[in-house]
Amino acid sequence: MKEILEKLYSTGDISDYELKLLIENTDGNISALLTYYADTVRKKYYGKKVFLRGLIEISNYCKNDCLYCGIRRSNKNAVRYRLTREDILSCCEEGYSLGFRTFVMQGGEDSFFTDDFLCGLISDIKIKYPDCAVTLSLGERPYKSYKVLKQAGADRYLLRHETADSGLYGRLHPSEMSLENRKQCLYNLHEIGYQVGAGFMVGVPFQTTENLIQDIRFLQDLKPQMIGIGAFIPHHDTPFAREKSGTLQLTLKMLGILRLMFPKALIPATTALGTISPTGREEGLKNGCNVVMPNLSPVAVRKKYELYDNKICTGEESAECVSDLTRRIESIGYEVFSGRGDAI
Ligand code: 5AD
Repeated sequence: MKEILEKLYSTGDISDYELKLLIENTDGNISALLTYYADTVRKKYYGKKVFLRGLIEISNYCKNDCLYCGIRRSNKNAVRYRLTREDILSCCEEGYSLGFRTFVMQGGEDSFFTDDFLCGLISDIKIKYPDCAVTLSLGERPYKSYKVLKQAGADRYLLRHETADSGLYGRLHPSEMSLENRKQCLYNLHEIGYQVGAGFMVGVPFQTTENLIQDIRFLQDLKPQMIGIGAFIPHHDTPFAREKSGTLQLTLKMLGILRLMFPKALIPATTALGTISPTGREEGLKNGCNVVMPNLSPVAVRKKYELYDNKICTGEESAECVSDLTRRIESIGYEVFSGRGDAI
């Protein structure tokens, strides 16, 4: 097993068979060595830097009905909200003064957010904060829409592929959604010139080791600048309410593997990681992550953007506590970088 890990560390790739052995291995010494290698590679390219992104959850209206997600359209118990243009601009203002230089606007697939509305908003943000990057995470949109949003000034786009296996994709999503379309959106974003983020959930119902390997192979083909992964966590008002969460252990292992295979990727220690364990995000940083995304949404709506149960949304992960977060990051040997933090 050690040889496999050393091969991954020195060449950046291993076979499907070797990946399967590594993913399924439960030896603590191997996990510790993976952590060490992941941290070494991360330091080689990014040093001790941790990049900050201010996350603004602009709407929890969603036309999709993904089986795992708490804001799916058929969840009648979700209390819906949508931020106004003024709300979003004041989040940016607060974020800027707290030191954020990337604003991530994330939301459900909400038809209220037309190209015209978003283009106006994006160009205003870019005029006001020319030293900031704007990242969008608004789901699947037509090619033309991605194109005009880019022209208006958007820099990056996050769209997790969720799973690269079409069979599993079909079990997690309603029939009107397809993996093919999802992938096409990602290739379109790439072609248009966005810095692109893809990713998947770990431990989602029915997922096999082979599925995780397919996710890795898809990412190798797409070559995204950003990779977001997090443990699946059930939401009580979804068909997966009674399913088990993904584990911290497997998520950290996948993060370590991704760091070795994508040395220059920007990889966030996600909110889901912080939700399954109080020290989850720190563990993520020690296993190859180099981004954190504190919540900049207005406090009044935070609880409503409930993708899964117990999603952390106050306390040290929130943007107000960026000084606490900075201290925690420094206490484990990293440093917060205050700039746009583009991929190298
Ligand atoms: N558990 C973990 N992650 C989830 N997401 C949605 N629902 C869940 C859940 N129940 C993730 C998806 C989506 C991202 C915004 O949140 O991967 O792309």
